[in-house]
Amino acid sequence: MCGIVGYVGTRDALPLLLSGLQRLEYRGYDSTGLAVCSADTMRVVRSEGKLQQLQSKINPTDFVGHTGVGHTRWATHGKPSDQNAHPHCSEHIAIVHNGIIENYHTLRNEIESDGYQCVSETDSEIIAHLILKTLRDGAQTLSLALRGVLPKLEGSYAIVLLSEREPERIVAATNGSPLVIGKGKNEMFLASDVTAFLSETNHVVYLEAGDVVTLEQDSIDVVNHDGMPVSKSSSEITWNITQAEKQGFRHFMLKEIYEQPQVLSDTLSGRIDAANAHVVLDEISIDPALQKLSLIACGTSFHAALIGRFLFEQLARISSSCELASEFRYRNPVIGTDELTVVISQSGETADTMIAAQEAKRLGSKILAISNVIDSSLPRFSDHVLYTRAGPEISVASTKAFTTQLVTLALLAIHIGVQKNTIDDTTRSHLIDELMMLPTKMADSIRSSECLQDIIVHYENARGFIFLGRGNLYPIALEGALKLKETSYLHAEGYPAGEMKHGPIAMIDKDFPVIALAPQGVLYPKMKTNIAEVKSRGARVIAIATEGDKEITSLVDDVVFLPDIHPLFLPVLASVPMQLFAYYVADRKGTDIDQPRNLAKSVTVE
Ligand code: G6P
Repeated sequence: MCGIVGYVGTRDALPLLLSGLQRLEYRGYDSTGLAVCSADTMRVVRSEGKLQQLQSKINPTDFVGHTGVGHTRWATHGKPSDQNAHPHCSEHIAIVHNGIIENYHTLRNEIESDGYQCVSETDSEIIAHLILKTLRDGAQTLSLALRGVLPKLEGSYAIVLLSEREPERIVAATNGSPLVIGKGKNEMFLASDVTAFLSETNHVVYLEAGDVVTLEQDSIDVVNHDGMPVSKSSSEITWNITQAEKQGFRHFMLKEIYEQPQVLSDTLSGRIDAANAHVVLDEISIDPALQKLSLIACGTSFHAALIGRFLFEQLARISSSCELASEFRYRNPVIGTDELTVVISQSGETADTMIAAQEAKRLGSKILAISNVIDSSLPRFSDHVLYTRAGPEISVASTKAFTTQLVTLALLAIHIGVQKNTIDDTTRSHLIDELMMLPTKMADSIRSSECLQDIIVHYENARGFIFLGRGNLYPIALEGALKLKETSYLHAEGYPAGEMKHGPIAMIDKDFPVIALAPQGVLYPKMKTNIAEVKSRGARVIAIATEGDKEITSLVDDVVFLPDIHPLFLPVLASVPMQLFAYYVADRKGTDIDQPRNLAKSVTVE
């Protein structure tokens, strides 16, 4: 949550900070700010709203300097406003902060009683005052001052600070909020996410909790809280920034939906031995004694976890449970040593998910991460990692990251099933054939779901929507409702179709349409009954059905047909009409599709 970009080098900092902020806006976009400094001068500007509003306040000739820091905010403490935007200043000090300082009330009282005046409502501003006070109390450098303050802070943070008195450096510390250094030629970048500087350099150094870093144009000095040197190795990012640009699509969300055939194929690439019909997951080793799986995630990734449970139970016959990360931590869970915790996070940075993973590890479980972002916090923390290979996902509403999670879970379930001898050879070979068909069938699903663009005009006056599904399509109903809420701000609910009669049916009338996931299969007769129940109460119904199903057209108002596929993989294809429905409705409404209000792509606060 919130984005940070810092620069120290030989070029003008301002344009680099602005382009970094633009790339980070997906992390939070209710207010922005930046500071640029040169010897004895620091210029700071802050603005409520998006980056454009900040830019309109900047006269570039006033912001001259080779050192600076920028911030894009997602409000936690204090409403979005100019005053609450970062950087926060105390005399010659400017700081930006991601995370939450949990004891800030106490610290604020302390610092105010020392005569420092807080002008914002944030938990972050106190850090600037504490640093100034520590300098005044005798700390010789910014780094020493920061190290003096850190022990007082409870909570999570990534802090970057600069001062016109030390204009040749930026100093930073991290604890539970990511920071990564970008090494250029005679210049250094520092950001909460590599996308902020990837157009400038792909050589990176990741900071870990407890690191305090001083960056100058040609040096990186990392120490721990006690001042002991910490050695760091650098790595190279292999994807490039054009992969994160719109390439002619009106929105990132649409581009990312259309990328799915390609990214599914990337996810499978090298992980299937087609000749021998085997899954090859050399990246991981699973204990043959494994008896139980816990799947933990948030948001869309949690819906992937729910589908993962079906895959693990049916293919590997392993008892599996799913839990929202934000609930797991406070439940005092019981974890056996024969249990594996599968933690799913597109970003690998979600605070609730990270904390749940830490808790599971503390209780003795091994952690297997499923993530899209290479070397993000979760993969670095986990015992095993499977990357989903979806490429950068910029749209806040997740699409391709989700479907690649599903395919990764399918690969893992087959892998474990083979190891546990729960899949016979014929089934395994059939599953592999079907998995390999997914990219092509994904392209077909996108083509056939495009009809929703015309269909949605019949649903303009809806008071709300209910998405119904059964079995492994119930999580897809949840995901369909979530996508619609996120992008269109409309009321939508996902429900297991069999539960509808226990309450939600009371909402149904002609202005409360139903999207029914009704493919042919064992649960098809039950879904037809549910459809009849809502039709007889006046609801307009869109069915997501199997190609060639002639009967369904007479039962509902509109139909989207999907290619036939193994039922365990159907959620991958059925995601597409959910995504496109949400996209088209939002586009017609004119909402900010890629950056919906109040949301952020990477939620790095609890
Ligand atoms: C945020 C995003 C969602 C995402 C969730 C979990 O709420 O807006 O799209 O599903 O975080 O994110 P993760 O990166 O852990 O998958």
